[in-house]
Amino acid sequence: MSTGGIDANGQVDRDGPPESEPMRRSLSRLRTVRHILWGVILLAGVGLGGFELWHRTRPDPNPTAQEMASSIVANFTLSTHTGATASDATYRGRWLLVFFGFTHCPDVCPTGLATIAQVMDELGPEGEAVQPLFISIDPERDTPEAMAEFVSAFHPRIVGLTGATEAVAAAAKNFRVYYERVEDASSPNGYTMEHTTSIYLIDPEGRFVKPYSYSATSEDIADSLRRKLKGKGQI
Ligand code: NI
Repeated sequence: MSTGGIDANGQVDRDGPPESEPMRRSLSRLRTVRHILWGVILLAGVGLGGFELWHRTRPDPNPTAQEMASSIVANFTLSTHTGATASDATYRGRWLLVFFGFTHCPDVCPTGLATIAQVMDELGPEGEAVQPLFISIDPERDTPEAMAEFVSAFHPRIVGLTGATEAVAAAAKNFRVYYERVEDASSPNGYTMEHTTSIYLIDPEGRFVKPYSYSATSEDIADSLRRKLKGKGQI
């Protein structure tokens, strides 16, 4: 690229023989194109930077299995919907299907719990070793009583877990679950919650295995669990 520039009179300032008029015009066009290109690159850079910032401040609510497997610790100490204290150790020896949400959720949580309920029905007696857990990320409203009423509407095998704000925050952090209160005048109490919608599979030793997408069908999840329950490695 030429290191030359244009002086105050609009003359091309560069070494070499003087340019003819057409050459000067094409050089001028080239410079315009170059400026536009730099503008595009700059804008792309600003855009990418902004995206990066957005990404960092607003984590992906549904990270990939690989991202999750390396960092998830399935630890929690909470209260069940019957008021008993329960921790991850309480459920050792069982496969856990863990879903985070809140009882005032208008659609995502009811749909997720309905899917989990269908999975349990499809597994039937095979599902005895599977324990579905619904962990509240809205402890302000989700008392054990509210959780009892909500989970029992879906399946008798689902256990609802809630607790103090700090205990819920710790559980969500360990599972790398994202949640955030969002002010919304049209929601009950003037707010709703955003949250991770994946369903987490935890093995009988308490280790994270994989997430099921919120959009996975009950057949897919039941088939995957059957393979796991039969001790076949593939999920
Ligand atoms: Ni929800």
